[in-house]
Amino acid sequence: MKPIKVGLLGIGTVGAGTFNVLKRNQEEIKRRAGRGIEIAMVADLNIARARELTNNECEVVSDANLIVNHPDIDIVIELIGGYGIAKDLVMKAIANGKHVVTANKALLAMHGTEIFKAAQEKGVIVAFEAAVAGGIPIIKALREGLTANRIEWIAGIINGTTNFILSEMRDKGLDFDTVLKEAQRLGYAEADPTFDIEGIDAAHKVTLMAAIAFGIPVQFDKAYVEGITKLEATDIRYADQLGYRIKLLGIARRTSHGIELRAHPTLIPAKRLIANVEGAMNAVLVQGDAVGATLYYGKGAGAEPTASAVIADLVDITRLATADPEHRVPHLAFQPNAMADTPILPMSEITTSYYLRIRVADKLGVLAGVTRILADATISIDAMLQKEPAEGETQTDIIILTHQTQEKNVDAAIVKIEALPTVVGNVARIRLEALS
Ligand code: HSE
Repeated sequence: MKPIKVGLLGIGTVGAGTFNVLKRNQEEIKRRAGRGIEIAMVADLNIARARELTNNECEVVSDANLIVNHPDIDIVIELIGGYGIAKDLVMKAIANGKHVVTANKALLAMHGTEIFKAAQEKGVIVAFEAAVAGGIPIIKALREGLTANRIEWIAGIINGTTNFILSEMRDKGLDFDTVLKEAQRLGYAEADPTFDIEGIDAAHKVTLMAAIAFGIPVQFDKAYVEGITKLEATDIRYADQLGYRIKLLGIARRTSHGIELRAHPTLIPAKRLIANVEGAMNAVLVQGDAVGATLYYGKGAGAEPTASAVIADLVDITRLATADPEHRVPHLAFQPNAMADTPILPMSEITTSYYLRIRVADKLGVLAGVTRILADATISIDAMLQKEPAEGETQTDIIILTHQTQEKNVDAAIVKIEALPTVVGNVARIRLEALS
């Protein structure tokens, strides 16, 4: 059988990795896919570099439209990123009856509903394993391996940049700005790291996982997003003393009244395996009703780890291309006519535990005032830490870990605590998940 023909849009780091791995492992991949997979065309604005990276082994063009409109191309790989031109090209490729493989989580988190609908109507596949947690086959696991389960919750370290920064802050006791600069120097963080450090990238990824896990539309606009820019080294140190690590988690949880969908810094017990995922590594913990907890660990970015996911999608499509659309694995795991309209909960309705750091004047009755407010709000205290003031100081920190409560209770209690005359400045609040 003739090889399936692929057109690659954008040959940067991941594109070059895909080209190289496909070439290196072509015999093995052909044995698995049942036929050869050939990158026949590459589109990139930097034609000279694209020619060099592909050793002149395929046609290189600067206009990506030549690929999405080409009658011989069966699959389009979109590695341009963003939701401007990338969306245009993906929609054109679908309209032209081509299958699409993309690593573009931002595009799918923002426009997934429209893209999957168009693909469904046209009978083509849009595959996106590389969009979540790089080389970890988490989409495959959720959509197929765990298909027997009612998924209860997912918690993932799905942004390597922020995990690297948090690991460095903890190991070296450095503050956020210093470590960010170091991460940029080492190439871990982008020149514009906004999407990573503000939690947007993690929220894109958890939005996609939530859709697949619960059979709901992709709803990034309803996700709660909080990054790590305001985290202080002092909170990482206190968390450590209490037996916790702080990680940026993407969390999706099914509750009786809706779905929690959120990405934010989170205390997790240091003894959990996922708490020990360090540096730029990713990990996703999934709780299913039948299987219990399963943990997936690996590289969330990089040329060949991401290429591994892109090529897995190419092989899947090559195998499935002949199956009729109704009998393929659905894009969001559930059949399009069986999607649920379970609401995404507003943040005030979520239930979790909390770490509170309260700066106080070291005066009689200050602790009693704080605990009275928490008790009145029916917030139960799980642990507490108070150090004597440093030499020559009259202020100190009170650290409180609460049991589970609704976010709105904590919000209300914080307003009252901050109004106490003995409390200095704002209360630092970080959510805490036991993940048990
Ligand atoms: N910027 C992402 C991260 C990698 O830091 O994990 C690609 O998803």
